[in-house]
Amino acid sequence: MRISFAKPALDRTGALCVFVAEGGALSPAAERLDKATGGAIGRAMASSRFKGAHAATLTVLSPASVKASRIVLVGTGKPAALDAVAAQGLGGAIVAALGASADPSANIVADAVRDTPLKAADLAANVALGAVLRSYRFDKYRTREKSDDKPALKAVTVMTRDDAAARAAYGPMGKVAEGVFMTRDLVSEPANVIFPVSLAAKCRTLTKLGVKVQVLDEKQMAKLGMGSLLGVAQGSAQKPRLVAMRWDGAPKAKNRRPVAFIGKGVTFDTGGISIKPAANMEDMKWDMGGAGVVIGLMRALAARKAKVNAVGVVGLVENMPSSNAQRPGDVVTTMSGQTIEVINTDAEGRLVLADAMWWAQERFKPKAMIDLATLTGAIIIALGYHHAGLFANDDALADRLIAAGKAVGEPLWRMPLGPDYDRQVRSDIADMKNVGGRDGGSITAAQILQRFVQDGVAWAHLDIAGVTWATRDLPVVPKGGTAFGVRLLDRLVADNYE
Ligand code: BES
Ligand code: MN
Ligand code: ZN
Repeated sequence: MRISFAKPALDRTGALCVFVAEGGALSPAAERLDKATGGAIGRAMASSRFKGAHAATLTVLSPASVKASRIVLVGTGKPAALDAVAAQGLGGAIVAALGASADPSANIVADAVRDTPLKAADLAANVALGAVLRSYRFDKYRTREKSDDKPALKAVTVMTRDDAAARAAYGPMGKVAEGVFMTRDLVSEPANVIFPVSLAAKCRTLTKLGVKVQVLDEKQMAKLGMGSLLGVAQGSAQKPRLVAMRWDGAPKAKNRRPVAFIGKGVTFDTGGISIKPAANMEDMKWDMGGAGVVIGLMRALAARKAKVNAVGVVGLVENMPSSNAQRPGDVVTTMSGQTIEVINTDAEGRLVLADAMWWAQERFKPKAMIDLATLTGAIIIALGYHHAGLFANDDALADRLIAAGKAVGEPLWRMPLGPDYDRQVRSDIADMKNVGGRDGGSITAAQILQRFVQDGVAWAHLDIAGVTWATRDLPVVPKGGTAFGVRLLDRLVADNYE
């Protein structure tokens, strides 16, 4: 999608989109259009149920006396509630409303009916961001799709009196959107295309943005003693990889210790010998969603030249059953020296993260460490699809994450940790077992991760199993891979570590 900004003008071709507040009050541009069309807007509203509710739309086709092919009335809801997330929802709603139209361009007059919490420029920039995010489409494997079935919309112009400031505000947002798209591409790709070696190659492409990329193969991991990650990988013909992506954007001699982001990158999770049922197993192509977010985030930070030292580490494995696969009951030794009894080979994400997190701390000495993982089905039982689970050993970090999530519309819900839960993963023969029973399954998984957090490191774990894939369209996320976490963590960095 091509995005541009301009001063308000009503003499444009294509779709012309104007705002209407809740209750039906027309924005100044809508008012002028109504006059120019001899009252077509008022009549259309009178004969519909459109009342300006947030993200509702009403289309007036081929209006008289204007160049536009159609006028799209866009409900803003209450102006006082029109914050950044709501503004993004308007851009998303416009793209969705034009989905089946033949118009190649949309021109949006972003003038609110009354004062909003946003400055004019930020309103316009967020509308643009929402339009871009909603326009994502993963269609590379649809070889016979007719052009008539593809969206026609190619360009969005957002008009505001402060167009220069809007353009400037949008600059970094557009870079973050590119990171979001990369993540969505990665989680959408099937597991015969994205496997550890090919995903490591995708990480390498970030070098052109100035990211330093290091890839460890299985020999190097064996030497480092990563028995836990390698135990998961051993059943697959696909060789594992551990990748570090480093972005050093902080001014020299300042904030040297990085923030570390660790991603679970199980490129396909069959469950291994504790094999999963067939129904919906195809979803497990996106069990590398945590790694996908870390990769897209590193791309976003580098592309917008964030003034931060950040490192992304992704543990890449495929979890397969085979004669080489690890068995229930096997005991593995992690890089940290702690041993784990593998009761269930389908609880593999924590085994991968245990070594990836330990290595990241040894190698990069981060001041804070945030891991992301499609870790448990239990988090979906607890929170459904509208919050990711947040676990943290540090209240300040947890609060910052919650605030960042609110600011970008990727909400988190904090879950408990504690010794009573930790007892559930005690093993009779090893330092711990890899499952703690069905009860509190997401919490016991997090307890295992916490055992691999070194003293003095502020740590948070995001269980994104419920939010990584959308089964229906959301305001700025078409159904499919969401990239939940990229915008949130970009915001966390911008607000706290730059
Ligand atoms: N990748 C799954 C978790 C998952 C489930 C992600 C559904 C997305 C959607 C994870 O590796 C897993 O299999 N977890 C098990 C753990 C259990 C064996 C303790 C689960 O949640 O059932
Ligand atoms: Mn699993
Ligand atoms: Zn998994």
